[in-house]
Amino acid sequence: MAELRTAHTADLDIATRKAARALLDNVFDDMTDDDWEHALGGVHALVWDGAELIGHASVIQRRLLNGGRALRTGYVEAVGVRADRRGRGHGAAMMDALERVVRGAYELGALGASDAGAAFYVARGWQLWQGPSSALTPAGIRRTEEEDGCIYVLPMEVSLDLSSELTCDWRDGDPW
Ligand SMILES: CC(C)(COP(=O)(O)OP(=O)(O)OC[C@H]1O[C@@H](n2cnc3c(N)ncnc32)[C@H](O)[C@@H]1OP(=O)(O)O)[C@@H](O)C(=O)NCCC(=O)NCCS
Repeated sequence: MAELRTAHTADLDIATRKAARALLDNVFDDMTDDDWEHALGGVHALVWDGAELIGHASVIQRRLLNGGRALRTGYVEAVGVRADRRGRGHGAAMMDALERVVRGAYELGALGASDAGAAFYVARGWQLWQGPSSALTPAGIRRTEEEDGCIYVLPMEVSLDLSSELTCDWRDGDPW
């Protein structure tokens, strides 16, 4: 019987961190150290089957700039369910838990979806950002054309023009 638990990064012991990284390495063939680092510093949703970790997702805080505002954003990262356990509701259960965090703590939810994952989020009400994307780099705002069409947001009370420019804060590795 699988069990969903949520925990802040601060409360993950070393064995759990190692299990999460190993699971994500298994789910994504291009997982990098930066990708893993991007998943830290917020709330993790973990699905355990006994001592085996079979699902991971997390939400961390970022600032997304839009229309002159720096929106406090819950950014969803590292969503993966072990291949042999998919299609049993674990991904939805993790997203339920993280969307609750997003709705309770942030002005906006956002994520960068893979082609394979996009429909999963759309079915949950996430909306494609249609405008240009960019990043606030140390050298100023720079376009991130390669990310256009991959960014999804979970709008809440803040009014948004989905066709306007959306700029993310800076980090090593993939900006989105
Ligand atoms: C995407 C993923 C996390 C979904 O996990 P899961 O446990 O299989 O999902 P669930 O069983 O909770 O499915 C919930 C619903 O989403 C649908 N769904 C699942 N994966 C989907 C996908 N890739 N595209 C479209 N719909 C999807 C299911 O059919 C189900 O629909 P229903 O409620 O109408 O029955 C999982 O397939 C995965 O790890 N994929 C590889 C990694 C990945 O792509 N992660 C996302 C990166 S952005």
